[in-house]
This record gives sequence, C-alpha cells and structure tokens, in this order.
Amino acid sequence: MNDRFKDRVVVVTGASAGVGRAAAVAFAKAGALVALVARGEEALESARREIELAGGRALAIPADVADAQAVEAAADKVEAELGPIDIWVNNAMVTIFAPVSEIAPEEFKRVTEVTYLGGVYGTMAALKRMRRRDRGTIVQVSSALAYRSIPLQSAYCGAKHALVGFLDSLRSELIHDGSAIRVTSVQMPALNTPQFGWARNKMPQLPQPVPPIFQPEVAADAILFAASHNRRNVPVGSSTWKAQWGQKFFPGLLDRYLGRVAYQGQQSGEADAHDRPDNLFSPVSSDPGSHGRFDAQAKPASPALWVEEHRGSVLGGAALLGALAALGWYGARSRSAPARVVRHRIRQASRNLRNRQP
Ligand SMILES: NC(=O)c1ccc[n+]([C@@H]2O[C@H](COP(=O)([O-])OP(=O)(O)OC[C@H]3O[C@@H](n4cnc5c(N)ncnc54)[C@H](OP(=O)(O)O)[C@@H]3O)[C@@H](O)[C@H]2O)c1
Repeated sequence: MNDRFKDRVVVVTGASAGVGRAAAVAFAKAGALVALVARGEEALESARREIELAGGRALAIPADVADAQAVEAAADKVEAELGPIDIWVNNAMVTIFAPVSEIAPEEFKRVTEVTYLGGVYGTMAALKRMRRRDRGTIVQVSSALAYRSIPLQSAYCGAKHALVGFLDSLRSELIHDGSAIRVTSVQMPALNTPQFGWARNKMPQLPQPVPPIFQPEVAADAILFAASHNRRNVPVGSSTWKAQWGQKFFPGLLDRYLGRVAYQGQQSGEADAHDRPDNLFSPVSSDPGSHGRFDAQAKPASPALWVEEHRGSVLGGAALLGALAALGWYGARSRSAPARVVRHRIRQASRNLRNRQP
C-alpha cells in the first residue's frame, strides 16, 4: 500500500476483469476509494473482495455503460457513498472478431454503444459533477487501434477512433471555458486480458492479441500515471508508438501490410468450437480476474512506457550528454593539428620579435 491517491474517489468502468480490474486494484493499493462498475455481479464482487483483502476500500456497482441513465445513477451512488469523484476512468469495452461482411447491424450497434457511447456517457456523468467543483480528471483507456485500425475488428476500431474525435472536441471546450478539469487518454498495446476468451468471434480459431503482448499491470501503471500527471496522451509500448507514427506517414503501406499479416496475427492456433457464451449483449458468468490465457508470452514491463513516464529526465539527460559531447569535440578540435600549427607559428613569431629587440 502507498499514499499516492490517498482518499481520492476513483470510478473505473469495466472494473471486474482485465485492465479495469488491474487498474482498480492498483488505485486501491495507492490509497484511493474505488467504485467498480461492470455488469457481471459475480466478478464485480470478486474484484471488491480482492481490493478489501489488499487493505483497500471499494464499492461494486452493477451497471451497463451503454445505458446513460444507469451510468448517471452509478455516479450518484458513488458520490453518496464515497464522496466527490476525483478521477473517472472509462475502460469498459466489447468487441467482435469478424470481417465487416459478417458483422450484423445490431452487432455493430452494440459494440458502438458500449465502447464509444459508454465512454461518452461516463465522461458526461463525470463532467456534470466535476464542473460544479472545477476539478477532476477523466482518463480514457484508448488503444493503438484508435489510430491504426486492423482487419477483423472494424466495429471496435471505429468506436475507439470515434472516442479520439469526441475527446478532442471536449478538450477544446474545456480550454474555451477556462476549466481546470483534465482529460487524458492512454493508448494501450496488446494486453493479456480475458477479452480474447469471451469476445464474440466468427473466425475459426480463438482470437489473440497481436504480439508483443503486455500484462494488464503495465496498463494499470500507465493509467495511474495518466491520472496523476498533466499529459494529453500516454502511449504504452513501442508497438503503439509505431502504429501511431506509421499511420501518420504510411497509411496505404500499413493497409497492405495488415491485410497480409493481421488475419493470421489475431488467430491463436486454438480452434473455437463456437459453443461458448460471449459478452457482447450480456456478461459471461465467470470470474477470470485481470489476466487472460497468454501469461507465458506476456511481458511484465515496457521500457518504452518507462521512457514515456520519465521523458523529462530522459530529454534532460540526452541534452546534457549532447552538450558534453559537443564540449569534448570542441576541446579535441582545439588540440588538433591545425590548432597546434597556429600555436607554434604564434610562438615562433614572438621569439623572432624578441630576438630582433636590441
Ligand atoms: N486487451 C488488449 O489487448 C487491449 C489493447 C488495447 C486497448 N485495450 C483497452 O483496454 C480496455 C479494457 O480491455 P480488456 O482487454 O481489459 O477487456 P476485457 O478483458 O474484455 O474486460 C472488459 C471489462 O469491461 C466490462 N464490460 C463489458 N461490457 C460492459 C458494459 N456494457 N457495461 C459495463 N461494463 C462492461 C467487463 O465486465 P462485464 O462483462 O461483467 O460487464 C469487463 O470488466 C478497453 O478500453 C480496451 O479498449 C485492450
């Protein structure tokens, strides 16, 4: 336990599993009072117990983020039972793995309602309360796929892109109003979460995140960092960085590259019998916790995230090294052959001058 977020009231949507659960536990271990929002009551209750066993305090609120009234009621309950909301983390999501031609209109609608509108409704509920006090932080859990879409996840990628557009408008409005409320977004790489075991899938094999895969605790670390630093965006992992910059400069090349590799890249090699329940319209009754089934491959840390979190010191260190290198180069140059010749000639000239004096 530490006091980094002592007594701060934090709401995490999608807190019963995966990234949301890892973040909720990390906030609680840092002293926050955490409200856990998700649909599945069994997993929510288990998340609440996990936090209390670690010495923290949590409030479980079953709600569907696609229901604006339910989100609003959840925010009311948090303020009544824990106090004014300081930090709101929009994290809940659903996805579907299938080509566009095999996704039904109601499936597109549902992914959009949960993943996009769920973020919008969460932001609205948080803003309504934060505006009264002119303080608070909204964290959107985003993705590399919010900047560079991949095949087989069009509904999800579209919703994540839409959130980027929504938040850009909101940021400008907050600046226009002179508001002190902060909005920050964390772009995640592939993560080892239960998503790939319970998402709707129309492909022959069970889906997998496209490697490199990181543990959800890496994502939680980035969320806590974003919640406590004045950053517009926090990209996590070099794969996210490459996706964002690659899309800026080579979008057509990436279309072709992903068309060739990203179908197979999202197939785990394990056959999907298609006889399991999925979480698109209702929660799956299970309690997987934060981790998915890729523990053997998943990395427990991201050096690129470390650099991002310490970028002030890294830039300062690089500038200092650059200055030292320039000084060294200048010193070496001034001791170099041409400089020695000039010095020798000056000494010779002054000797000649002395010899000529009576
Ligand atoms: N895993 C990755 O590779 C990856 C990569 C980039 C970004 N991300 C981002 O990370 C975040 C979390 O993803 P994840 O992989 O941890 O997902 P996950 O393992 O599938 O967990 C999703 C969480 O959201 C909840 N949820 C789903 N639908 C909901 C609804 N309608 N209302 C309320 N809660 C709902 C789920 O609980 P219930 O089903 O019980 O409601 C669960 O707690 C998402 O924003 C995702 O975009 C993940």
